[in-house]
Amino acid sequence: TRPRTLLALNWKMNKTPTEAKAWARDLAGEFTRGAAELAVMAPAISLPGLKETLPGGVDVGGQDVSPHESGAYTGEISAGMLRDVNATYVVVGHSERREYHGETDVLVAAKARQAQAHNLTPIVCVGEGLDVRERGEHVTHTLAQLRGSLEGVGENVVVAYEPVWAIGTGKTATAEDAEELAAAIREALRELYGEVAESLRVLYGGSVKPDNIASICAQPNVNGALVGGASLKVADVIGMNDAL
Ligand code: G3H
Repeated sequence: TRPRTLLALNWKMNKTPTEAKAWARDLAGEFTRGAAELAVMAPAISLPGLKETLPGGVDVGGQDVSPHESGAYTGEISAGMLRDVNATYVVVGHSERREYHGETDVLVAAKARQAQAHNLTPIVCVGEGLDVRERGEHVTHTLAQLRGSLEGVGENVVVAYEPVWAIGTGKTATAEDAEELAAAIREALRELYGEVAESLRVLYGGSVKPDNIASICAQPNVNGALVGGASLKVADVIGMNDAL
């Protein structure tokens, strides 16, 4: 069975806790529940209180999580802490974490397992850079990354395909490009998890906006979007929610 579409907003390093609450209040004033499930991945410091301010049924999540349970890991945030402030999801292995913080597939898998141990659903991000795409190796590259990032990870998982060349660039992959990878990811999920793979969500991310989200999410294997830039303005989020 096809899962309910997930509109996952990734604010990245934007909005103070005060701004986050104001945004949530503005959203609550205009939001009507549509076909999609909505979740806000906010900086961890903004999560306390966000869930209460958001309209009912809107989930929140973190943008990263430590692979460790607790202890001497200065600056890190644990899965238990995220859970305590009502997070449902956590993004792991975002390309910005991989690029600027040297995260490997092995580390990403450890983070995803730790998230699951605390009943958080990890949103595991994969996707190729421009050089890989130009060599025509985007499918093999992305699937290798996926298998590495799902090592020992259970089936309570969301996968986000984000071609790095489409993130924050305004260059969206075509709906066909998104479907090509989403279908390949689905097949890999079938090999890993069996039939339940049909009900798992595969998201597309990379310059998703109100005017392109519907065609991308209408693809047979695309079950939603992970949105960066267009997640910051309430009007864009309403536009995307209403388009689904
Ligand atoms: O997590 C979201 C992605 O990195 C996409 O970002 O919508 O600004 O291209 P973007």
